[in-house]
Amino acid sequence: MSEHSQTLRQDIDHLWHPFTQMRLWPEEPPVIIQRGEGNWLIDDQGRRFFDGVSSLWVTVHGHNHPAINQAIRDQLEQLDHSTLLGLSHPQAARLAAELAEVTPGELNKAFYSESGSTSVEIALKIAFQYWQQSGRPEKKGFAALGEAYHGDTIGAVSVGGIDLFHQVYGPLLFPVHRLPQPFCRRCPLGLEHPACGLACAEALETLLAEQGDEIGALIVEPRVQGAAGMIVQPEGYLKRLWEICRAHDVLFIADEVATGFGRTGKLFACELEGVEPDLMCLGKGITGGTLPLAATMATDRVYSAFLGEFDEFKTFFHGHTYTGNPLACAAALASLKLMRENDVVANTAPLIQRLSQGLARIAEQEHVVQVRQQGMMVGIELSQDKATDTPYPPEARMGHHAIMAAREHGVIIRPLGDTVILMPPLASSLEEIDLLLEATGKGIAEATGAAA
Ligand SMILES: Cc1ncc(COP(=O)(O)O)c(C=O)c1O
Repeated sequence: MSEHSQTLRQDIDHLWHPFTQMRLWPEEPPVIIQRGEGNWLIDDQGRRFFDGVSSLWVTVHGHNHPAINQAIRDQLEQLDHSTLLGLSHPQAARLAAELAEVTPGELNKAFYSESGSTSVEIALKIAFQYWQQSGRPEKKGFAALGEAYHGDTIGAVSVGGIDLFHQVYGPLLFPVHRLPQPFCRRCPLGLEHPACGLACAEALETLLAEQGDEIGALIVEPRVQGAAGMIVQPEGYLKRLWEICRAHDVLFIADEVATGFGRTGKLFACELEGVEPDLMCLGKGITGGTLPLAATMATDRVYSAFLGEFDEFKTFFHGHTYTGNPLACAAALASLKLMRENDVVANTAPLIQRLSQGLARIAEQEHVVQVRQQGMMVGIELSQDKATDTPYPPEARMGHHAIMAAREHGVIIRPLGDTVILMPPLASSLEEIDLLLEATGKGIAEATGAAA
């Protein structure tokens, strides 16, 4: 049996894939990725694919970047793992200091974990405990956006608002105050932007005016709701939410797991509107996309509420076995160094512009109802009838067919429902962006039966 056949056999017999209907899986055998080289993924048959979604939104400098690989190797020679419970190590401390330096405002403390979801759990627990220990124990509630996505653990699912993913777990979840989704094309309030005066943000004012005494925090994906289909918020929305939270003494949690580390054209999306959160969740691109690491950043004010005598038990009783793993921290430090030295975020400006130009052409296609872009994050929404904005029936799996057709043109991309997502690595070249756009345009045209 060839290695390829053996991998397929073992995969089909034993591997349960995320977000995947496993009954259909064997019908469309997967590409088996064997190597990464720059912005390219190479399969076990030697076929090369451009990594058009940065391996699920993580790859920053390309795969196998020599500087990051070397940093991991060097660290491996020193220390593979050691706990942060009762001990420290240089990489965790140095990275915490650097994160405090690069994140906005007063976010001076880093609490590590391993995934975006855990960074969110930690933010929620810190926010809850903060009010318990700040003389306002009744501030127990959370507010979150319609169609929010903050990860797949139970706390993160509670603040999440995507029925398809979250509804089944309803009985397990804590209640959340849900704000109208800031999605202008399908405004849940039935209003028109900008005449609406950002009524979706003002809904938070109404909520907090009535119940602010019982609400401890708002959690929000700043500027772009990624998993909802790259829904780009109207200008000023984020800042308005932040102002309202400050006015009502409600903690502002920015979930920058997807938007952080340069994806939106700034290092953090909060910078686009001068927002300084109380808590910030980081993950995905933090290591340049190499090893699992996440951090929850907290302000000094939040942190101070956890200080006290031993027997006051104000401690944050939370930690994961691999919290602050030295290899992952070394990778993150190397990635941040590359960002600084190569001016990576500023250098995305021409790529962002090239994406916009190409997307304008794709937007003209018969079955493309909307193209959304914020920096290097793109969602291309398909619909059966553009004029009436009628979606395809779910069983048509049009997003899936479009990305599979694009694959034949040499790119790996992913859909979210019938929205085709593009999120190329920040280190992409203009030529690679052109290839991504061309393959995507052709894939969509072929799947929808429209002219390219
Ligand atoms: C905004 C946001 N928060 C949290 C998460 C969860 O991150 P992870 O998959 O690393 O748990 C994601 C993942 O896509 C995300 O987009």
